[in-house]
Amino acid sequence: MHPPPLVPLAVLRPERVALVEDAAGRKLVLKRIPRRFRLEPHAQAAMATEIRALERLEAQAPGVAARLVAAGEDDRGPWMLSTFLPTAPLAHRRFSAPEAAFARSLEVLAAVHGAGVIHGDPSPENWLVDDGGAFGIDFDLGRLLDEECIIHAAVRGTLAVAAPALLRGAPPNAATDRYALAASFAAVLLGAPLRTLTGGPIAVLARGAEEKLPRSALDAIARPLADTLYTYLADPAAT
Ligand SMILES: Nc1ncnc2c1ncn2[C@@H]1O[C@H](COP(=O)(O)OP(=O)(O)OP(=O)(O)O)[C@@H](O)[C@H]1O
Ligand SMILES: [Mg+2]
Repeated sequence: MHPPPLVPLAVLRPERVALVEDAAGRKLVLKRIPRRFRLEPHAQAAMATEIRALERLEAQAPGVAARLVAAGEDDRGPWMLSTFLPTAPLAHRRFSAPEAAFARSLEVLAAVHGAGVIHGDPSPENWLVDDGGAFGIDFDLGRLLDEECIIHAAVRGTLAVAAPALLRGAPPNAATDRYALAASFAAVLLGAPLRTLTGGPIAVLARGAEEKLPRSALDAIARPLADTLYTYLADPAAT
């Protein structure tokens, strides 16, 4: 099945994610697997995970993520179409009160978890938050808790914010999601990642897997937000 007729508006990720408009003038997001990965079972499983996660969230926790509009497969491979959320990614820092933005984000993440969905990679690019709301996007490295975990983020998610447990190869869980969200807020507020990415992915993985972040890493963030963030960064279920 082909996607419905769509007008392209902008490329959000080359070869992969596009902002489009349908015949009714709705802004939607069309996601595909890049040509070179199209036959990879992992890439297909990841998209299938994201589709099932969005369906589950729509049924059990509406309003915490984009809504799946349609999905299918054509001669270019699998595709999925979801609603466009006009909220900026966390990385863009479009919120005036960081503490309220983090609290709102934690509530949304708890609702995602309450529906039995683990996000897997709530990074500054995969979390939308501004003064109006918070939403998860890009659930393709996540899992549904009542299904077998087909894929996980060990080497494929955002290394700079991934929880040590994940870097050691554990499947993502609620605590690793909260760790990544806290690390993402910390990185955005500090203007630098907590984990430096020098030395290439293998070195970063090895160092990150053993990491015990000192509380002083958050000293430049005002209290009590820094204390709150640190509780998630020191959670034994994530570290
Ligand atoms: N539903 C949406 N609403 C608003 N913006 C979106 C939406 N989906 C994607 N985006 C924007 O497009 C960017 C890329 O989308 P997404 O994170 O899903 O793809 P990706 O990171 O390329 O995928 P992957 O991590 O699976 O390789 C996001 O960081 C976000 O800025
Ligand atoms: Mg992404």
